[in-house]
Amino acid sequence: MEALNKEMVISEIEKLRNEIRHHEYLYYVLDTPKITDAEYDVLTLKLRELEACYPEFITNDSPTRRVGGGVSSSFTEVQHLSPLLSLGNVFSLRELEDFERRVHSEFTPETLIEYVVEPKIDGLACSLIYEKGQLVRAATRGDGVVGEDVTHNVRTIKSIPLKLRVAPGAEIPELLDVRGEVYMPRVAFMRLNAERADKGEAEFANPRNAAAGSLRQLNPEVTAARSLGFFAYAVGTGAKPYHAESLAMLTAYGFRVSENWQKVQTISEVWHLIELHDKKRRELAYDTDGVVVKINSVEQQKTLGATGKDPRWAVAFKFPPEQAETTVKDIIIQVGRTGVLTPAAVLEPVRLSGSTISRATLHNEDFIKEKDIRIGDHVIINKAGEIIPEVIRVVTEKRNGQEQPFIMPSQCPECEWEVERKPGEVAVRCSNPHCPALGREGLIHFVSRDAMNIDGCGPAVINQLIAKGLVKDPADLYMLTKVELLQLERMGEKSADNLLAAIEESKSRTFDKVLFALGIRHVGAKVARILARRFGSIAKLKAAQMEELSSIDDIGPKIAESVVSYFAVPLHEDLVQRLSEMGLNFMMPETEIIDINHVFYGKTMVFTGTLPTLDRTTAQNMALAVGAKVASSVSKKTDYVVAGREAGSKLVKAEELGVKVLSEQEFLALVQE
Ligand code: IVH
Repeated sequence: MEALNKEMVISEIEKLRNEIRHHEYLYYVLDTPKITDAEYDVLTLKLRELEACYPEFITNDSPTRRVGGGVSSSFTEVQHLSPLLSLGNVFSLRELEDFERRVHSEFTPETLIEYVVEPKIDGLACSLIYEKGQLVRAATRGDGVVGEDVTHNVRTIKSIPLKLRVAPGAEIPELLDVRGEVYMPRVAFMRLNAERADKGEAEFANPRNAAAGSLRQLNPEVTAARSLGFFAYAVGTGAKPYHAESLAMLTAYGFRVSENWQKVQTISEVWHLIELHDKKRRELAYDTDGVVVKINSVEQQKTLGATGKDPRWAVAFKFPPEQAETTVKDIIIQVGRTGVLTPAAVLEPVRLSGSTISRATLHNEDFIKEKDIRIGDHVIINKAGEIIPEVIRVVTEKRNGQEQPFIMPSQCPECEWEVERKPGEVAVRCSNPHCPALGREGLIHFVSRDAMNIDGCGPAVINQLIAKGLVKDPADLYMLTKVELLQLERMGEKSADNLLAAIEESKSRTFDKVLFALGIRHVGAKVARILARRFGSIAKLKAAQMEELSSIDDIGPKIAESVVSYFAVPLHEDLVQRLSEMGLNFMMPETEIIDINHVFYGKTMVFTGTLPTLDRTTAQNMALAVGAKVASSVSKKTDYVVAGREAGSKLVKAEELGVKVLSEQEFLALVQE
């Protein structure tokens, strides 16, 4: 009797779950609900009641378990199974045709190339891992290699199945890595901003920021209330041999895949689809900022490989930026971390490409002069995607004579030192080494994402730390105590603990990040990495002379000079000393240090054709790791061409020029030497 009852309960629970899953699918994925919201609520209520009576039968994939897991204090980092690539942008038919030419040049003339064309959803990329059909992990893109674990939040997105829809009897994949875009529908965005305005909270600039902010919530209940959506657009592990087949598979597994994708064979068909999409994109319920063109065959994708983070087998066509007219209410000056005074226009807020714009950069004094921008002017501004809004031109016909020309101040607005403009430079600079702006901006840079990546330490916190005299330079951050942090506004016990933990955790950053964080002029993230890998330690870098530095590829005399003069300042030497005492890394791990005696060090290499065992990206990364430069076309400057099967015109060219050609085997033997 007991057993029978148990079976009946289980089967009733499973039946209800399947019914609810089906209705969620109809509503959130297909957009064609068959029952009313009230009927749906009745079903979930029934299921909740049953599960409350029989908690032993609750499973993680139950529709009642979307919100769970409680509030967490931070996001853990997770390594992606394979990198989440980015996309190169094109803006015209000509550039699309260049893309086509680049693709075709890798294959024989008779090779059939098919393209899949999809709308580019304006949200943020996520990878969803399904093991045996169950959603086990979701992560943001992060830097493409390592992302943040947002599983609890992603589970609340109802167009994402917690369990793949697999037909009875059909095989369930062991492992599936679904990639797609989390986005916020326009109505949800407007509703959210209206609510925030009511509560006096800062509004989100656009649906993409709102989606990102909603996904990075420590409390999944907040995410659940934000009506996020998800479009699946690719498969990592578990992909089919053709991208179009992968999209069809995703649809079958219950994902929402854009209904507007198409497979074509020519760029003129691609162009036609772009024009069609441009006409209808404003009517969609969500923002799209372009169209993505991908090569259908995965084998061809592998042959093409990637340059850095951009695949050579896909490209994003971006719609031209929209423009708007507004007025310049004021022109203000911001002092950056290198002391440069940058003017910015304070604008009458205006809607543009889905965001509200109230500031535009004016770059420098010359830019303002050249465009003759005056306070009070009507101006045309534009904005493309992530790019900072810019003033395109002044509507001079609307001038009434009251407009005020802008005069660059002769004193720093922060410290009142005389500013200077060196001959031949556009920048006006404050060279007071004690200017408060330098310290503040330097600290903001030090903690920023690509540098020490200290979470919870935004400009507002830094400003307070400085104002209260708690921090003067980066080393002071590592001496902060909880009692001190609790003096800050809006800093509770929990945030203080989190911040201290984040500061402590930042000590694990590698030397290249620390070097970048120091904020040496002209030493960006890429240069910092080159220097860290080339010298291996701060001691060796400090000892390097101008000549040695500027002989390194990508390091010009300007950078070399800046590095040498940085270490000549006692204040900087002292900072490095203190940071090192705090336990920061000033040495690169042995495996990351470049051997300048390696055969491929500093050599320019081109990879072409299909290699027997390595895919192209892996091979290129191996070359980069030993200090080679990877190029995409063969010229007199090429040192080696690594050629595989069906190598085309590049191999011919290499032979013509007498460039050394290596097989994969020869390449592997040399690279591992
Ligand atoms: S494919 C190598 N397809 O655009 C493939 N991306 O600008 C990389 N995006 O990081 C992604 N819609 O977040 C792809 N249909 C689509 C997309 C799409 C939006 C986003 C994605 C990516 C970014 C690159």
